[in-house]
Amino acid sequence: MTVNDSAFVRACRGQDVPHTPVWFMRQAGRSLPEYRKIREGVGMLESCRRPDLVTEITLQPVRRHNVDAAILFSDIVVPIAAAGIDLDIVAGTGPVVAEPIRTAGDLERLRPLTADDVSFVAESVRLLVGELGATPLIGFAGAPFTLASYLIEGGPSRTYTKTKAMMYGDPQLWHALLSRLAQITSVFLRTQIDAGVSAVQLFDSWAGALSEADYREFVLPHSARVLGGLADAGVPRIHFGVGTSILLGAMGEAGADVVGVDWRTPLDQATTLIGPERSVQGNLDPAVLFATWDVVEREARRVLAEGRRTPGHVFNLGHGVLPDTNPDMLTRLVELVHSVSAR
Ligand code: CP3
Repeated sequence: MTVNDSAFVRACRGQDVPHTPVWFMRQAGRSLPEYRKIREGVGMLESCRRPDLVTEITLQPVRRHNVDAAILFSDIVVPIAAAGIDLDIVAGTGPVVAEPIRTAGDLERLRPLTADDVSFVAESVRLLVGELGATPLIGFAGAPFTLASYLIEGGPSRTYTKTKAMMYGDPQLWHALLSRLAQITSVFLRTQIDAGVSAVQLFDSWAGALSEADYREFVLPHSARVLGGLADAGVPRIHFGVGTSILLGAMGEAGADVVGVDWRTPLDQATTLIGPERSVQGNLDPAVLFATWDVVEREARRVLAEGRRTPGHVFNLGHGVLPDTNPDMLTRLVELVHSVSAR
């Protein structure tokens, strides 16, 4: 058994599988007491830069839940910090950028990325691949739009007003910024692939803030440069966003092998929008895990049934595990997915 024969990689490729593979976005993190313990007194960015901690935190949910894939413990802002931006990840808030990027002059502070800038990530991946054996490791990066939103707003936003002001008001600066971010993201993902990850996920978490026309004009070309540039790498490329029902077709066209779907769109309907040549990933509402087990089971069975009507299904939540989630629910959900979907 090798990673390429794993249920996860096979489902990404639309090949037949012994069971539907399952992993969870944010499976490593505050839902796990062992994570909270190991992070005591260590900042988020610092923990992402220490290969010993990255390895242990990445392995924690694999040991506990028996998921079909590991996801590298890191963050989407790690490469932009490595490219010269002064930022922090504040607990309960998210990334906070000291001096946001709003002008052409500001853009000069965002250097092109080299593999050496993120050598700690390559080291972490090598350590993990040695530990994981036949369990695939998923690498990831933030997509240009989602990264730009943090850089321009200076932190999380509800309305993306400053982001959209630049997008509509100064398209030249906008495209220059997104081109730079596409370069950074491409190098970050290529570094992870060269070090041994078995798949990559491009998180465009906040792309759902856009209309399809604006997505196609202002975002898709840059994400397509990232995903298209990895076509020769031979690893499945997953493309994910939240609230993207109307963007699913375009997000597939950007060059994905698998499109991540949130809980708003049933997977069989998603496949109608995405087309028969791509697999889908998702899409149990993370909030369902706060209901009783019979509700979780009913909803998971529905997601699996809808997933059977797609070319390939990787079971996941529709977005990340919420910090207050009872981890035992996740363990039980993995068992259920494996047993219900066994072929
Ligand atoms: O298990 C995994 O999925 C891997 C780890 C991972 C993290 N961040 C760790 C993390 C991944 C894949 C990310 C990606 C990420 N980071 C995204 C895209 C995915 C998504 O959720 O849409 C985004 C938008 C970010 C930016 C970010 N970083 C946010 C919004 C937050 C949460 C802030 C908070 O405290 O609520 C972070 C911090 C972060 N990244 C944590 C973890 C485990 C929590 C920090 C902590 O434990 O103190």
